[in-house]
Amino acid sequence: MRMDLTLNGRPAQWEAAPGATLLAVLRDEGLVAAKRGCETGDCGACTVLLDGQPVNSCVVAAARAHGHRVTTLEGLADDPLMRRLQDALVEHAGVQCGYCSPGMLVSLYHLLRACRAEGTRPGDHAIREALSGNLCRCTGYVKPVAAAAAVAAALAGIPATGTEAR
Ligand code: FES
Ligand code: FES
Repeated sequence: MRMDLTLNGRPAQWEAAPGATLLAVLRDEGLVAAKRGCETGDCGACTVLLDGQPVNSCVVAAARAHGHRVTTLEGLADDPLMRRLQDALVEHAGVQCGYCSPGMLVSLYHLLRACRAEGTRPGDHAIREALSGNLCRCTGYVKPVAAAAAVAAALAGIPATGTEAR
């Protein structure tokens, strides 16, 4: 099955087996930031953006990407908001084993990007809600939430550039 899509801001063509998941194809393409966790849509380790919305790529058919926009953590590497989130997660010791971190980052990016566009600032409740689909066995969530809150406090000063802003 041949697919044409926008992958991390650029046109891409994929050949994928019928029934292949988006996660499987991404990882076959060498985009391995999205992690293989439960593969049942429960842990969020495989979170990517599909047309700007977070999805569990392990339960999304690769065929859904045809004609659509897929953004992975790799594609957000040049985005100032994502870089601030990554730095904050490290500074607040919000990374332990790190397996959940890519998925958490994509979920937090989605929340904060939307808040910046609306001119709002998310509180801890909204941050926890954004992370509700990202299971973490190590951190207890306190430190990742503190990291996101610190970025939220500085949100207005973070420029809107990068893959998702184009
Ligand atoms: S690996 Fe996709 S939700 Fe767990
Ligand atoms: S840091 Fe280990 S699962 Fe979250």
